[in-house]
Amino acid sequence: MSHDNIRPSTQFNDEDSNRSGNPAFDEVLATRLSRRGLLRGGMGMAGAAALGGAATLAGCATASQAPLPAAVNTLGFTPVAKSLADVVMIPPGYSAQVIYALGDPLTAATPAYKNDGTDADFGNRAGDHHDGMEWFGLDAQGKPSDSATARGLLAMNHEATTDEKLSSFFIHPTGGASTLPRPAAEIDKELMIHGLAVVEVEGRGKQWGYKQTSPFNRRVTTMTEAALHGPARGSEHLVTKYSADATKCRGTLNNCGTGKTPWGTFVSGEENWYGYFFRDAKDDDARKKDKQVQALNRYGRKAGAASRHGWETGGTADMYARWNNGATAASARDDYRNEMNTFGYVVELDPYDARSVLRKRTGLGRFAHESVSFAKPVAGQPVVAYMGDDARGEYMYKFVSAAKWDPADAKPANRLAAGDKYLDKGTLYAARFKGDGSGEWLELSVNNPVIANSSYFEFKSDADVAIFTRLAADAVGATRMDRPEWGGINPRTGEIYMTLTNNSARTSSAADAVNPRVYTDMKGSKEQKGNVHGHIVRLADASPAGSSFKWDIYLFGAEADADKSSINLSSLTDENDMSAPDGLVFSPTTGICWIQTDDGAYTDKTNCMMLAAVPGRVGDGGPKAVMHKMADGSSKTVETRMGKAPTPATLKRFLVGPKGCEITGWCETPDGKTIFVNIQHPGEGTRMADVMDPSKFESQWPTNVGYGAGKRPRSATIVITKNDGGVIGT
Ligand code: FEO
Ligand code: CA
Ligand code: CA
Ligand code: CA
Repeated sequence: MSHDNIRPSTQFNDEDSNRSGNPAFDEVLATRLSRRGLLRGGMGMAGAAALGGAATLAGCATASQAPLPAAVNTLGFTPVAKSLADVVMIPPGYSAQVIYALGDPLTAATPAYKNDGTDADFGNRAGDHHDGMEWFGLDAQGKPSDSATARGLLAMNHEATTDEKLSSFFIHPTGGASTLPRPAAEIDKELMIHGLAVVEVEGRGKQWGYKQTSPFNRRVTTMTEAALHGPARGSEHLVTKYSADATKCRGTLNNCGTGKTPWGTFVSGEENWYGYFFRDAKDDDARKKDKQVQALNRYGRKAGAASRHGWETGGTADMYARWNNGATAASARDDYRNEMNTFGYVVELDPYDARSVLRKRTGLGRFAHESVSFAKPVAGQPVVAYMGDDARGEYMYKFVSAAKWDPADAKPANRLAAGDKYLDKGTLYAARFKGDGSGEWLELSVNNPVIANSSYFEFKSDADVAIFTRLAADAVGATRMDRPEWGGINPRTGEIYMTLTNNSARTSSAADAVNPRVYTDMKGSKEQKGNVHGHIVRLADASPAGSSFKWDIYLFGAEADADKSSINLSSLTDENDMSAPDGLVFSPTTGICWIQTDDGAYTDKTNCMMLAAVPGRVGDGGPKAVMHKMADGSSKTVETRMGKAPTPATLKRFLVGPKGCEITGWCETPDGKTIFVNIQHPGEGTRMADVMDPSKFESQWPTNVGYGAGKRPRSATIVITKNDGGVIGT
């Protein structure tokens, strides 16, 4: 959930604590461009197919070795119209099926999900809010396979839960308690619906299902032990009552985007973890001169901050007390003042080993991590990964490993040991964009005198940089961006694309070349301001480990009828207009760029969606003056760099989801013939007071298409195939 316009009382996803004076290139005055609400109707798109049918587990099929198709240059499907229907819409000629939804049992002994709030044992069930997802193939013998197309593991994030007034109301019988203290029995369930899952899936043609009894099935929750790795391991700032030597911690939380490492493991970004911690109003005093007070403020936890669910109120037991981020005892060894510092990392999991221990890779920095995108590794060169910090005005990052890539590590005997080799030692950089279309990577380590000698914050070591990464990026003057979400690497060019989902806090005075839009959009009678619909920036690195890059803006989200000089700069049409890009994944098979939305701005006209794109490369467009119309009738311009505008042939809508959902997570079988997509939080706009009245639910998906019991909406994974057995999108 990251909408800007619903339930301000539960907005834990748009944290906005960057008060640094980091650069803005052009000063422009406020835009007060009022937009007409009219949309052109009917563009002659063919009727799309609605998703239906319950999942059944098909028989076992063997892995095929189909040759990979050449990367596609045009998209071969009929675009799907914008839709407000409570179903998944896909192009004609495609089929979709629900295969794995909130609460589905992951062991033989776990009963079927009743979906009425009475279900328990969520540690053995699918978690909530399915998010980023990766495919890990299995051959017929159950061994890891790069070519398997009919059997594999989906490793995915269960980011959060649909909540209001503290409670995850759909998983409690009558909605749960909305006052403090929360009942322990409710908290116990909520602690287990967050985290990760590994689930085995199997299919033949269009019939897919998950395997309830697979020994690979696994949940990682807020309670699962994890090992701290990288420069922050052992730091005084990670000492807790649970781990006096700061080598371990518990759980992973609010996992959003994902990635797949070159050595074949799953990585996941911890995003809006800070919102789960309570901090007493007197905690600043209790901490006296602790430098972490500055960091707590910078990471969104001012003294007196309430927690999202009140988990700290479940009782005196450790499992509840750990969510109180206060200095309540004499020593950090006896309380959980540092517990929040054990979240905010990239975590690595070996999905093929259900007993393996989750590793927190602190070298990749601590912030509101979204996805992790690894550049194609080159023998003898460092391994490089790109990441975004999704909060208003936060930064883009790059990690460069100290170890040089050995191609033998593509199939290592010990996958997590390969992770240790490449992710535990390296250098983190933050991006600074310049108005001329160039940019530089700023080193975040105590080798950089700007950090070592900083008067802004005391960095004693690279452990401090790893834990207080935002402050290090502030110190070097990185560029404040419009909420960096997923990144993806174009397999044809090696260029990195990153979605900047929207920024309601972007002001005209801070508009700059790479975040150039500030305008007003109407949603019904409601004014929405800032960069309302988001954009996608792309970077061409001079070399994998280099410190300079070139950039332009691939795409500006917009409504098709918006002004083309100030808002709809990419000339989007009814076939491809969109708002709030979030998920972004390139198919390694076809090179198609899949773009998914998590929108609250255009949802008066369409539910969230997924589009397919065939983009060009950095520099295929040119300079662009963005018009800012002023209240007094005058105008100002901000110079940006924009790529060649897409057309309906190179960017079109492939899917629209059910009501109240976000589309996120994408992976495919290596033949490109089957894709998996997550539908997160359908019915998110349902009010807690209406939990007993299905007629008032915003959505009843997926039970309204025949999947599962009850009428409460459930986050779920769907599988999409082409009816002629062809490659998706072609
Ligand atoms: Fe979980 Fe930034 O979206
Ligand atoms: Ca989002
Ligand atoms: Ca609008
Ligand atoms: Ca996201």
